[in-house]
Amino acid sequence: MVKSKPTVDEYLKTLNGGRILDVATGTGSCIRLLMAHLKSYDSFTGIDTVFKAVETARKNFSGTNYKFVQMNADELAFRYEGFDTVSVCYSLHHFSSPLTVLLELKRAIKPGGHLLVFEMTRDVTSEPQRMHYLVHTFWAEIDRLYAVPHYETYSSKQLKSMMMKLDMSHMDVILQTEHQQSQDPFDPKIMTSILESIDQCLNKIKAHPMYATYKSKGISIRDQIEKNGFLPAPLLFFCAQK
Ligand SMILES: C[S@@+](CC[C@H](N)C(=O)[O-])C[C@H]1O[C@@H](n2cnc3c(N)ncnc32)[C@H](O)[C@@H]1O
Repeated sequence: MVKSKPTVDEYLKTLNGGRILDVATGTGSCIRLLMAHLKSYDSFTGIDTVFKAVETARKNFSGTNYKFVQMNADELAFRYEGFDTVSVCYSLHHFSSPLTVLLELKRAIKPGGHLLVFEMTRDVTSEPQRMHYLVHTFWAEIDRLYAVPHYETYSSKQLKSMMMKLDMSHMDVILQTEHQQSQDPFDPKIMTSILESIDQCLNKIKAHPMYATYKSKGISIRDQIEKNGFLPAPLLFFCAQK
């Protein structure tokens, strides 16, 4: 019998996390995911450049096993090889130089420890998934209008090539699209929140000279999402051992 590849959640159940650093933690969603699925873990340190995110994460997690620090992933203020696991979730496309960050993360992992990378890819497999790519590109362009680093998502090929440059001792890769296919592309809650995100982005740039251009782009994307629905783009997951 051919054994099918595990899902990301199943794969995580086989890993002992130990001391974990979650990079670009935002408000800590990845920590929640790791807590729900890892076989075991000891502690979490989350870092993010945005102070408001760090403050919210501190409120979301209490106890001495959780620490949140405002810090840039380009230059970690941690000693060499201090963590058993380093994770980075849905954030590579937020870094101006993702490879520089990945090399910095490798530095922070102890020998034999793991780097976990979760990243959406632009290799969509359906029209509803393409809507994610389209609206994400719109969000990223609007962030960049105000010099917030946020770029287009990478292809699986680009991500794999970036990860190979780390020269880790072992790497498992899981491309996950199936679990998303079973979702309803017209789920009213998701549709409302995605369509509202377009209006929220446009509200942010009302005073910008490019407002009219982005308003018509926003209307076009809204029409396409209303027609095609919306599904999350595929997830590419890497577990690389140092
Ligand atoms: C899409 S959010 C992902 C948040 C979280 N990892 C998750 O999966 O929900 C991207 C995060 O990256 C953070 N970020 C961007 N550039 C960063 C950098 N150079 N160092 C640390 N955090 C950064 C942003 O502030 C933001 O919170």
